[in-house]
Amino acid sequence: MMKQRLDILIKGAAELLTLNSGLKGPRSGDQIGELGLIHQGAVGIKGDRIVCVGTTDQLLRETEVDERTRVIDASGKVVTPGLVDPHTHLCFAGTREDEFEERIKGATYQEIEARGGGIRATVQRVRQATKEELIQLALPRLERMLNYGTTTAEVKSGYGLNLNDELKILEAIKELNHSQPIELIPTFLGAHQVPEEYRERRGDYIELLTKEVIPQVAERRLAEFCDVFCEEAAFNREESEKILLTGKRFGLRPKIHADELSPYGGAELAAEVGAISADHLVYTSPQGMKRMKETGVSAVLLPGTSYFLNSPRYAPAREMIQEEVPIALATDLNPGSCMTESMPLIINLACLKLKLTAAEAIVAATINAAWAIGRGENIGSLEKGKLADVIIWGFPHYRILPYHFGVNLVEMVIKAGRVVVERRGRS
Ligand code: NIG
Ligand code: FE
Repeated sequence: MMKQRLDILIKGAAELLTLNSGLKGPRSGDQIGELGLIHQGAVGIKGDRIVCVGTTDQLLRETEVDERTRVIDASGKVVTPGLVDPHTHLCFAGTREDEFEERIKGATYQEIEARGGGIRATVQRVRQATKEELIQLALPRLERMLNYGTTTAEVKSGYGLNLNDELKILEAIKELNHSQPIELIPTFLGAHQVPEEYRERRGDYIELLTKEVIPQVAERRLAEFCDVFCEEAAFNREESEKILLTGKRFGLRPKIHADELSPYGGAELAAEVGAISADHLVYTSPQGMKRMKETGVSAVLLPGTSYFLNSPRYAPAREMIQEEVPIALATDLNPGSCMTESMPLIINLACLKLKLTAAEAIVAATINAAWAIGRGENIGSLEKGKLADVIIWGFPHYRILPYHFGVNLVEMVIKAGRVVVERRGRS
């Protein structure tokens, strides 16, 4: 048998978490904690792909290493797939630290919104920015994300709220996708809020979205998903349904900001329209969870948002797991409700606030997150044939990931077979 020549061999990992459980599709119930752990693990990479995964002995026997192969010693380290962040609003201008302080003094997100802050404050700043400025503002955020182990991220529009500014954001995301290592998956979120100029005639805004903006976004292939903020203060069920079904007709799969601030039936709507995911789900009812399970909707949970909004209420993750709804984790990175790029911090919060085990949180931040953005076949686990997105962590046991919090323990990031972060010994 011809031995496979490798470009990169990672060997000797104290714990290699393959996330391969032999199952296809996102995991829940009894299977959610399956890490596919190999002691003394190794991964072989050729080009942008993983070509073999196993024990170090096995790979040294079965593969060929020559002078051009980069051999990386991962002894005493944990090795995982790259983290996947399936819900961000990272393309924005301006920050809202004033609102952060107002909340500390007792104001709620909704009160701040009502007095002119919130999403509309960011919309103003984004409308004033050029596409180039948006790109320059997003680049350092993406660099931080990569440094903290994120190799793929979903990004939403939603701070333009008119044809030109929504297209400007989506075009910025498209350019960003080619100008730094993280793969970006774009989502159209024109229904983030009714913009000020349409407040007295919201029907016209829905018309604008369904008749003009969605067709343009689809024609220019600027988004893969269509999202709606379905909430009393944003878009009601009927409006949300109309927008999501229009998006679907134009080939944009539905996603939905559901039950974030109140029990509003967003989970049920997600099931009805065949959404790939429903996100937030802080107030979701048992009935909503059942419907999600029946129709295969993933739950994307954002514990950083409850934390940052200083809310005592978190999504009922344990009930979801019991109901066998697949759960994923994301940052929600945005200037209003969660200003962080760090998925490891979200994993920490998922353990403390959602009561996940370390293993469950790692599944939710890798393979399940990949399925929540339609990428489960290609990323999210270390398996032969998948994209070589790999993280080497500066600790020997995976349970240390949520436990040692607030610092960066990523030592190396490999994206599509390229070493893009190397900070050995600096963590
Ligand atoms: O996911 N829920 C709506 N959108 C964001 C907040 C956006 C903002 O406040 O700028 C969220 O929490
Ligand atoms: Fe969001």
